[in-house]
Amino acid sequence: MPIQINEEKVSLIHSSGSSVEVYFYGATITSWRCGGKERLFLSKDSKLDELDGIKEIHGGIPLVFPQFAKASEPSAETANLPQHGTARFSTWKWLGVDVDNDEELTARFGLTDAQVPENLHKEWPKKFDLIFIVTLTADILKNILEVRNKGTEPFGFNALFHTYYSVPDISKVSIKGLNDITYSDKVKNFARFKDVKDSITIDQETDRIYENVPRDEFLIDLGQPGGVDNFTLKKFNLKDTVVWNPWIKARSMSDFGDEEYKNMVCVEPGTVTEYVKLEADKTWKGGQILKVQL
Ligand code: BG6
Repeated sequence: MPIQINEEKVSLIHSSGSSVEVYFYGATITSWRCGGKERLFLSKDSKLDELDGIKEIHGGIPLVFPQFAKASEPSAETANLPQHGTARFSTWKWLGVDVDNDEELTARFGLTDAQVPENLHKEWPKKFDLIFIVTLTADILKNILEVRNKGTEPFGFNALFHTYYSVPDISKVSIKGLNDITYSDKVKNFARFKDVKDSITIDQETDRIYENVPRDEFLIDLGQPGGVDNFTLKKFNLKDTVVWNPWIKARSMSDFGDEEYKNMVCVEPGTVTEYVKLEADKTWKGGQILKVQL
């Protein structure tokens, strides 16, 4: 059976054996298996049985919309929204399968503003439709987010794929493709820097917003002999990229294992340094493609 559905989630299973699991809560992808291995990190302390419109899922691919982090300007329309917006706290609908053949399996999930929990919706009362499109092949996971403005006025939004990669050992991981790009460092009070080294390594708390990244392809090198299991990440229509690892701060997070920071890194393509302005009746689309070197 290529599709399994229960009350909480949908599992898509490709003929190659690769699979992806999507919770209706946030349309959060919580698992992507290919080549016989889990490729996404999900904290073992994530509270998947308490998805109540308040708790987020720490792991997988939470969708950030319409606000990344907390709005920095008190006057922003999204100023009263929780960190990372409302989409990840809302229960999405299953819209069905688009493509099911030997090559790919593609399915859709939808969220309209009316499905957003009332206490959050009232803080950003815009009319919108979101469609999240998930495509699975033997070695690729592709995600597209479509945002449609159903209101009569333009609105501004952030969107981001908060992707948690599972890594065997963070000390061996490097991320290539972000050199010579200015980033704002949240750990250093948003001071701005630029790295000239061709790869980033992580050996401390890291929380960087790379701005206006002109390259659309990165390599997440796991440092394995022979380069096996590396990820390539492509983004489209997403100008920024966030790199995050909480390091030992994870010990103070109730739903994140104390030592699990050693086995994850978030590389998050998004559009977060400016709001995308979307006119009434218009649709915006952005996405990411994750590919594993099997
Ligand atoms: C990252 C942010 O995108 O998400 C970090 O840059 C934040 O600052 C992290 O801590 C996790 O956020 P949350 O709300 O899922 O714990």
